[in-house]
Amino acid sequence: MVEPILSLKGVRAGYGGATVLHDISLDLPENGSLAVLGRNGVGKSTLLLTIMGYTQLRAGGIAWRGKDISRFEPHNRARAGIGWVAQEREIFPSLSVEENLTTTARSGSWTLDSIYAMFPRLKERRGNMGNQLSGGEQQMLAIARALMTNPSLLLLDEPLEGLAPVIVEELTKAMTAMLADRRLAIVLVEQHTDIALELTEQAIVLERGAIVHRGPSSELRKDTATLERLVGLRVAATA
Ligand SMILES: Nc1ncnc2c1ncn2[C@@H]1O[C@H](COP(=O)(O)OP(=O)(O)OP(=O)(O)O)[C@@H](O)[C@H]1O
Ligand SMILES: [Mg+2]
Repeated sequence: MVEPILSLKGVRAGYGGATVLHDISLDLPENGSLAVLGRNGVGKSTLLLTIMGYTQLRAGGIAWRGKDISRFEPHNRARAGIGWVAQEREIFPSLSVEENLTTTARSGSWTLDSIYAMFPRLKERRGNMGNQLSGGEQQMLAIARALMTNPSLLLLDEPLEGLAPVIVEELTKAMTAMLADRRLAIVLVEQHTDIALELTEQAIVLERGAIVHRGPSSELRKDTATLERLVGLRVAATA
């Protein structure tokens, strides 16, 4: 079998005294894509934070291309090739769009030119400060900035949250182009279930910090009974 890029085995993790994730095991292939679905508070962000090393790992292990990175500091995981776009976006407010993109950039196939081709709006706004952008532009910038680090795996935490439908469409197009490129793997946490399942190959659903469903995204997309039971009526709401 080909070595997965990321592998979690029996991961139990949380914050302080609280355990949030229970016995999480998953394998993501190189260039693979995984949707992480589930209602509010089930542990989706905690899963991404755990992959980045920001929570306390209580049991199990995390491997990156076969190497145990369970004890790596977050910046060493980033250096290994894991990019992360936090749910809070966290762009630099007092830097320009272009400075946001170049400050943390690392060499690779994503360059300012290829980023501006994918996000023409960011090119138009290249001289604007981070705090002069709309919510949608900030989200584009957060994703673009992560791509500029040329990661092999990108973790995206609800990139479409709170955005107007026209911006959702624009960002979805950009993510489709990014994935068609086939040079990176992604883990996509999203409450726009239909879009997440359209973009990805595999999906998991979390409930109270545990995986309660896993399978191909195309199959889950058709399984409205399971979706309604585990995720709610978001498919109908966003169709
Ligand atoms: N820093 C923290 N310290 C303690 N508990 C936390 C912390 N962050 C999150 N939690 C708890 O962990 C659980 C999972 O939260 P998490 O943010 O991972 O859920 P989520 O699925 O991302 O939710 P949402 O859809 O609202 O973003 C919740 O019970 C939450 O209260
Ligand atoms: Mg979250």
